[in-house]
Amino acid sequence: MTSSPLARLGEQTTDLLSTIGSLATLDALIEAEPSLTGKRSLLSTLQKSLGSLEPDDRRAAGAQLQAARRVVEEALSARRSELERAARVLQLESDRLDLGDVVDSAVVHALSVGHPGLIATTQSQLEDVFVGMGFTVADGPEVESDWYNFEALNIPPAHPARGMWDTFYVDLGEPETVVLRTHTSPTQIHLMEEAVARNSLPIHSVMPGRCYRRDTPDASHLYSFHQIEGLVVDRGITFADLAGVIETFTRAYFGSDITSRLRPAYFPFTEPSAEFEVTCTLCRGGGCRTCSFTGWLELGGSGMLDPAVLEAVGIDGEEWSGFAFGFGIDRCAQMRHQLTDMRALIENDTRFLEQMS
Ligand code: DAH
Repeated sequence: MTSSPLARLGEQTTDLLSTIGSLATLDALIEAEPSLTGKRSLLSTLQKSLGSLEPDDRRAAGAQLQAARRVVEEALSARRSELERAARVLQLESDRLDLGDVVDSAVVHALSVGHPGLIATTQSQLEDVFVGMGFTVADGPEVESDWYNFEALNIPPAHPARGMWDTFYVDLGEPETVVLRTHTSPTQIHLMEEAVARNSLPIHSVMPGRCYRRDTPDASHLYSFHQIEGLVVDRGITFADLAGVIETFTRAYFGSDITSRLRPAYFPFTEPSAEFEVTCTLCRGGGCRTCSFTGWLELGGSGMLDPAVLEAVGIDGEEWSGFAFGFGIDRCAQMRHQLTDMRALIENDTRFLEQMS
């Protein structure tokens, strides 16, 4: 009796399983697969050899071989899954973005964050100085009737002083002419009216805000600019109080080497009136082109409240007196930051805006 072709099947299966176990990569598995389970494989060769067996033996051997083939195929498929998983892990590993490296080596631009503009910053610095001196801060409308912008300030219609302000008219209608305020002085009138209505005198206030004039912009004029107005109404106020407030403000805002002086001037709403000048911030008083070699720069106007203004708002000029002043916020920014051209303030050139942050 010839020995069964499957005599060594157990041993051969073990060899096949150990070959499968030693396949190290997916490529090696794919390459080895035909020789393990394909037509030329040992298992297929054994299958063919069963033809020579007796039918009963053939059936039994066939079942045995089938079982061996299943074991080998399962081992192969399990090994394939293992190797595929390993390949995926390797792939992920090599695809992973190392953000630490990226951040270290790449140029990362900082986010550009906005900031208050030069005028807003200057305005709040000015407010701080006056609040420190005991003033409150008030607000007024930018669109005013002719009465607030002119008449109550002792500038009647057709008064030649109206020529001091090139006015934007909003409405020439009856009964009221409406204008864009040419200065912050009309806010004085609102404050005094309110104080009379509430019986809340005295007043010590500053009023910053935007003003408008029909000017063609040039290096020192804008059609839209900012002023800060000051108003004190109290008992026994004198010109010395006005001079003291101006001088204290000047040193606090511009620095202790900058001083102020008052020069006679004319404004319809103050009597006497004075222009106030401060030491030129460019040459520190030595004389330069900006100050026309005088050592002084004009900053604003001021004076003692004219009795006609007190009368217009119903304040008794026998009991109360006061002073007012007004000057340009833009001009302060220009002087402190030595800007040669005011138009830089309205052009929104981001290089300028960033420089002034
Ligand atoms: N309103 C004036 C102007 O814009 C400046 C001014 C002068 C304001 C005298 C005052 C003042 O309060 O008393 O030209």
